[in-house]
Amino acid sequence: MKIYRSGKPLAIIAAIAKNYAIGNNNTLLWHIPEDFKWFKKLTMGHTIIMGTNTYLSLPRRPLAGRKNIVISHTHKYDLQGAIGANSIEEAIELADADNENFIIGGASIYKQFMPLVDKLYITYIDQTYEADTFFPPIDANEWQMTQCYPQQEEHPLGLRYEFRVYERI
Ligand SMILES: NC(=O)c1ccc[n+]([C@@H]2O[C@H](COP(=O)([O-])OP(=O)(O)OC[C@H]3O[C@@H](n4cnc5c(N)ncnc54)[C@H](OP(=O)(O)O)[C@@H]3O)[C@@H](O)[C@H]2O)c1
Repeated sequence: MKIYRSGKPLAIIAAIAKNYAIGNNNTLLWHIPEDFKWFKKLTMGHTIIMGTNTYLSLPRRPLAGRKNIVISHTHKYDLQGAIGANSIEEAIELADADNENFIIGGASIYKQFMPLVDKLYITYIDQTYEADTFFPPIDANEWQMTQCYPQQEEHPLGLRYEFRVYERI
């Protein structure tokens, strides 16, 4: 039987620029439709876990077809059908025991979950961005890239990006 770091199967999913930038002014830094498709395909039917800022940044919330867990100290916003958790530990208690649960951001949540997850699904965007939020370092002594699917936007000057999967060494 597989042993999970937190006792539950947890994975981070994030889109990260070359300089580890992930967001600015509580929005994403790029618009890559193929990345939305990749995110949807992986997370559909699963539990997703996020912080308040990320939840509030979603254009439509909760994200349909998924159990949405929102971590907050205060829960002063209307969760509109999402499930509230008061801590990282409570979110893990609410997570699924048998199916992969996806940590979908943002920066503060990624940082706290980094030691607890078993897998990283990273869209690596081969460009540097000005940003106010960043992903934590991916330590090469701890993480091994096991899958990589290079992509390029169809436009001739299109962004180059890769869908990467990392597993713990
Ligand atoms: N590129 C990507 O893949 C990606 C993905 C997601 C988000 N983002 C970007 O990331 C940015 C948002 O990140 P962020 O760090 O500002 O916000 P966040 O992590 O989404 O949310 C932070 C909030 O979560 C709650 N929280 C965090 N840790 C907690 C804990 N241990 N216990 C209880 N509550 C806790 C607090 O909410 P309360 O204040 O309610 O207590 C805190 O203010 C945005 O720019 C967004 O677009 C990027």
